[in-house]
Amino acid sequence: MLRILSPSILAADFCHLEQDIKAAQNGGAKWLHIDVMDGVFVPAISFGMCVIKSIRKCTDLFFDTHLMITDPIRYVEEFARLGSNGITVHEEACKDVSATLDAIHKAGCRAGLSINPETPIGKIEPYLDKADMILLMSVEPGSGGQEYLPESTNRIREVRRMLETSGRNIDLEVDGGIRMTNLKEVLDAGANVIVAGSAIFTGDITANVQDFLRVF
Ligand code: DX5
Ligand code: ZN
Repeated sequence: MLRILSPSILAADFCHLEQDIKAAQNGGAKWLHIDVMDGVFVPAISFGMCVIKSIRKCTDLFFDTHLMITDPIRYVEEFARLGSNGITVHEEACKDVSATLDAIHKAGCRAGLSINPETPIGKIEPYLDKADMILLMSVEPGSGGQEYLPESTNRIREVRRMLETSGRNIDLEVDGGIRMTNLKEVLDAGANVIVAGSAIFTGDITANVQDFLRVF
């Protein structure tokens, strides 16, 4: 399966966001991970529509929008219109997961379904006919720079097996605490889309992306 790096701009410097995005792109990144937090589903509030609208003008990277918001179906159309290419919602946050994934497709985006570290992986199974991607959180959602939860590696293996038996080509994205020291472990376990925030946007962004991609 194609391996993809999705740098999370949550860890970028918003004083010069365009510069940081272009530095990641120069290193070879093809996706950008965009963490939207509402202060309800997770305690923190990050950023929303106006940021996505603005950065859409300065890059053609694939916008991998991760909605950590309650009842996300309310905003699917708007995030699609502003330039998201993929929209991922949390199983825990949806009133109707199936309808939300349908709405994402209807809006012209790839549909992702995410679960938190403590959510049983069986919860995603009913939706494998609709999801284009599963996003496994490997930290508690809500902030960058946390430590990777070691039990995530087994969860990645189990979900990869589940995706293989589904007979569909579903991406498996892992998000939280990924850095050069555990990247290989996460890839070997079966993840093919890697989110990294602090490990990419701290120091030399272009070199960090290149270092990650060499392991791919
Ligand atoms: C956490 C976010 C992550 C975060 C990852 O709630 O979903 O995407 O930005 O940051 P790092 O790579 O620093 O753990
Ligand atoms: Zn994220």
